[in-house]
Amino acid sequence: MTDKITLTIDEQTVAVAPGTTILKAAGQIGIEIPTICFHDYCTSYGVCRICVVEVEGSRTLVPACIGKASEGMKVHTRTKRVETSRRTILEMLASSVDLSEAPGIQEYMTDYQANTQRFPEARERKPSVLDDNSLFIRDYAKCILCWRCVQVCADDAQYAYAINFSKRGYETQIGTFFEKSLPATTCVFCGQCIGVCPTNALKPKREYLLQNGLSEDEIMKLTRSQRKRRTRRQISSAEQSEEE
Ligand code: SF4
Ligand code: FES
Repeated sequence: MTDKITLTIDEQTVAVAPGTTILKAAGQIGIEIPTICFHDYCTSYGVCRICVVEVEGSRTLVPACIGKASEGMKVHTRTKRVETSRRTILEMLASSVDLSEAPGIQEYMTDYQANTQRFPEARERKPSVLDDNSLFIRDYAKCILCWRCVQVCADDAQYAYAINFSKRGYETQIGTFFEKSLPATTCVFCGQCIGVCPTNALKPKREYLLQNGLSEDEIMKLTRSQRKRRTRRQISSAEQSEEE
């Protein structure tokens, strides 16, 4: 009796342990499937759907990060249908979110020849930068709602439960309960959310100030409240120049 199951991915045969996802099975034979919301240390919820693959016999495309391999399964990771689906997801993301600091997603854009102007009528998401603590800023104009930060703040790591989805539909954003400032929540400022964010929507203040022209020395000399004021000033002048 064997405890492995065998499937084929892009015509290659692979044997994996029961419960293995298609994503991991493909990885075992060197086939890379793009991922965005997936993170090795977070629970997968199949939020972004960039990882979809075609499985023979399945009516719909299957997200590889949560779809489990099964005996005799035949998977195709780069068919025309798969490519069209991935390209469309990328184009929709580019139409409403600032992806300028998401290099991984930009690489996919090139790979899938995504047209960033495909949806010119789309409304860009442009919430103001949130600066309510001394550790980091939250620029949700760059947020793709991948949910990784929420997961590490909750059961995947910190058990702090300081953030979650708030609002609905187009207005959906990562927020705190009753929109309280982070210091007024259960946030312990562990920084794990910053570490898993794929788009730089969450950014340490030092990095933010360096990007906005301050030197290391100047930042070191700022007191905590000066740093706070300085960040706020940078944010409002950045917002002003965007409006002009
Ligand atoms: S802030 Fe970053 S980690 Fe959190 S949902 Fe948005 S993109 Fe994902
Ligand atoms: S990476 Fe699989 S759904 Fe996002």
